[in-house]
Amino acid sequence: MKFASSALSALSASALLLSGAGAIELNVDDPESIKKAAAITAQGMRVLYTGDRPGDVPGNLPDPYYWWEAGAMFGAFVDYWYYTGDDQYNEMTMQAMQHQIGDFGAFEPQNQSKSLGNDDQAFWGMAAMSAAENKLPDLPSTGDLKGPSWLTLAQAVFNRQTARWGKTGTCGGGLNWQIFEFNNGFTYRNTISNGCYFNIASRLYKYTGNETYKNWAIKTWDWEASIGLFDKDLHFYDGSDETKNCSDINRIQWTYNLGVHLSGAAAMWNATKEDPKQDALWKGRIEQMITTMKEVFFQNNIMFEVACEKNGKCNNDQRSFKAYLARWMGYTMITANWTKDQLWPLQVASAQAAAKQCNAGPNGTTCGLRWWTGTNDGSFGVGEQMAAMEIIQNLLITNVTGPVTENTGGTSKSDPSAGGDPTVEPIVFSEITTGDKAGAGFLTTLVLVGILGGAWWMVAS
Ligand SMILES: *[C@@H]1O[C@H](CO)[C@@H](O)[C@H](O)[C@H]1NC(C)=O
Ligand SMILES: *[C@@H]1O[C@H](CO)[C@@H](O)[C@H](O)[C@H]1NC(C)=O
Ligand SMILES: *[C@@H]1O[C@H](CO)[C@@H](O)[C@H](O)[C@H]1NC(C)=O
Ligand SMILES: *[C@@H]1O[C@H](CO)[C@@H](O)[C@H](O)[C@H]1NC(C)=O
Ligand SMILES: *[C@@H]1O[C@H](CO)[C@@H](O)[C@H](O)[C@H]1NC(C)=O
Ligand SMILES: *[C@@H]1O[C@H](CO)[C@@H](O)[C@H](O)[C@H]1NC(C)=O
Ligand SMILES: *[C@@H]1O[C@H](CO)[C@@H](O)[C@H](O)[C@H]1NC(C)=O
Repeated sequence: MKFASSALSALSASALLLSGAGAIELNVDDPESIKKAAAITAQGMRVLYTGDRPGDVPGNLPDPYYWWEAGAMFGAFVDYWYYTGDDQYNEMTMQAMQHQIGDFGAFEPQNQSKSLGNDDQAFWGMAAMSAAENKLPDLPSTGDLKGPSWLTLAQAVFNRQTARWGKTGTCGGGLNWQIFEFNNGFTYRNTISNGCYFNIASRLYKYTGNETYKNWAIKTWDWEASIGLFDKDLHFYDGSDETKNCSDINRIQWTYNLGVHLSGAAAMWNATKEDPKQDALWKGRIEQMITTMKEVFFQNNIMFEVACEKNGKCNNDQRSFKAYLARWMGYTMITANWTKDQLWPLQVASAQAAAKQCNAGPNGTTCGLRWWTGTNDGSFGVGEQMAAMEIIQNLLITNVTGPVTENTGGTSKSDPSAGGDPTVEPIVFSEITTGDKAGAGFLTTLVLVGILGGAWWMVAS
């Protein structure tokens, strides 16, 4: 289904009228109302993307957004199309993703080396995984837009990261934050990098049934548990550092760390539920994550970023994190459908609260950050738009059949050896400068001070 362009302008016109009423109108029981609301938030995000303008580079967001957030945003557009049927952003999305593939067919563009973490790469990889699961047509094999299949791209990211797992010999395994040693924060072991790898491995297992992916998902979960990146109640912390062999944990909690594990666990549960032991294991973990999530990240059923919304310190990256917990709640309700009873009230209240405060800007539909306040807080950007869009479009999960697999209609081509020879190191043309080295040392100090003081994000920003 598509929106005709006349329907879209009617939509914008009604948005203008609504600005008097001061919000995006949202009837959570009416799929048409949900689609309209999602379309308005999507438009508000789309206008912030400039990469498809003449002379600009497809896939990049303008400053101050980092490269990873663009990958996250295109993942959001993939789901937007899937949930609403509105395909007006598909061409833009495919062009952007194709442009950023870079080396090894694995979203490792050389010109992003200076900020290329495993998590950054993985956000693009997860966008490709969603494209495979949602049956976005693969890139063509000839012409300007030619490229590997979506599944192959996700497999390439997995293979590249598998080769880096445990590479430095510290902490008993796991992935470092950064890919390159010359980058600030290389020694940091952040939960999101490992969580994204777990997520991709779990979903590749669900899609292909290949046990290698399952084994790596389990190994990564167990490793994270062993160093305490999460505790027994499944509070997910920010990370640890290999300079201290991961003996200290930075305990800040972010929505996306829990979310990336929640959806990965849902994929694992769904794919292993015939095995009573695995079934019970993942089910128990999912239930505990939902309990903890409600306690930590929701008030009156409305989602909030506990570490930075009330103190006003959310940086650009952090202002997008709720988008991913929202996205992954949707994925979880579809793939572990017994979670819907518990998650749906959070979903509905959060979507209503988000829509209500999308009432600023030229059209009276621009979204802010703090959903729980009931009014727009004047914080605007890609993250704010994406979070509102994802929580609203999730209301359409009952209208989709859910992520496909190789046996249930998936068509994206598989290449388990994608990414090439894993021992080949990337060539990086940006030599490390004294300035960068000093910077790296400085940041490591900050990280350690932060771990001891409990809050390096706050110190560093
Ligand atoms: C406001 O509406 C106009 C007219 O439909 C549209 O072109 C523009 O992109 C909208 N702006 C935002 C921020 O949504
Ligand atoms: C960076 O690399 C990507 C992928 O190889 C390429 O498409 C893009 O044009 C390059 N330049 C910039 C400024 O991003
Ligand atoms: C480092 O941590 C790992 C994992 O906890 C442990 O197995 C190893 O013995 C530790 N090494 C040292 C030198 O403490
Ligand atoms: C497993 O996931 C598929 C979608 O990939 C979904 O259709 C199915 O209902 C899920 N199973 C359960 C029991 O939730
Ligand atoms: C959950 O998914 C299974 C398998 O797809 C299906 O048989 C069942 O009806 C679903 N239950 C709910 C509550 O949607
Ligand atoms: C979407 O969901 C609504 C409400 O559950 C239902 O009436 C409608 O038929 C669904 N449409 C599709 C295409 O599944
Ligand atoms: C499963 O995945 C692994 C790791 O990518 C690969 O080496 C192996 O060939 C795959 N097996 C099959 C049957 O595709």
